[in-house]
Amino acid sequence: MKVLLLNGSSRQNGNTYTALLEIGKTLEQEGIDYEIFQIGAAPVRDCIGCGKCSEKGCVFEDDKVNEFVAKAKECDGFVFGTPVYYAHPSGRILSFLDRVFYSSGKSFAFKPGAAVAVARRGGTTASFDVLNKYFGISQMPVAGSTYWNIAHGAGEGEAEQDAEGLQTMRNLARNLAWMMKCFQAGKEKGIEVPQAERGSRTNFIR
Ligand SMILES: Cc1cc2nc3c(=O)[nH]c(=O)nc-3n(C[C@H](O)[C@H](O)[C@H](O)COP(=O)(O)O)c2cc1C
Repeated sequence: MKVLLLNGSSRQNGNTYTALLEIGKTLEQEGIDYEIFQIGAAPVRDCIGCGKCSEKGCVFEDDKVNEFVAKAKECDGFVFGTPVYYAHPSGRILSFLDRVFYSSGKSFAFKPGAAVAVARRGGTTASFDVLNKYFGISQMPVAGSTYWNIAHGAGEGEAEQDAEGLQTMRNLARNLAWMMKCFQAGKEKGIEVPQAERGSRTNFIR
C-alpha cells in the first residue's frame, strides 16, 4: 500500500515538507510506502470550468495536475499539506486540487485522506478546514490525530523544532496506516464499498 503526500508549498524543503516527511517516515515504519509530490514553483492554472475534463483529464497539460492524478489512481491514501498564506491554504494548492478533484474525484473514493497546515503563527485551523472539504465531497474517510494536523515554523526547516507538531504528524501517520490496513482487511473479507445514489441534483428549489 502507498500514500501520496502533496506538498502545496513552492519551497521544496520548507516546513510543509518537514511535516510531510515526518508522516512519510512514520508510514514507512508501519510498512506503508510513500511519495512526496512537490507542487513546485512553476505557475499552476486555475480551473476554468470548461467541463471537458471528465473523459481524458484536465485539458491543461502545462503543469502537474494530470501527472498527480495518474499517481493518485495507484495510491491507497493521501495527505495534502499546505503552507498558510493570509490564513488560508496556498493559492497554488487550491488551484491544483480544484482541477484534480473536478476531473478525477472518483479516483479518491473510499481511500482515506488527511490535511496538514503549516504556519509561522496563525490561520492553521482555517486552512486545515478548507483542505478537508475535498475529502467530504469525494467519499473519503478522514484520518485524525491527537491534535488538528498543524505545525509551526517560519524559516525553512524551523518546524523541526515544533515537537508537538511533529508528534501530531507521527500520530496521524499511524492512524492513517491503521485505517488503510483495516480497509484492506475488509476488502479481503469481501466487504464491498457502498454504492452511492446519484439521481437527485437539486440546484435550486422551484
Ligand atoms: C504570502 C505569505 C503569506 C503568509 N501568511 C501567513 C499567515 O497568514 N499566518 C502565518 O502564521 N504565517 C504566514 N506565512 C508564513 C508561512 O506560513 C510559513 O513561513 C510557513 O512555514 C511556510 O511553509 P513552507 O516553508 O512549507 O513554505 C505567510 C507566508 C507567505 C509567503
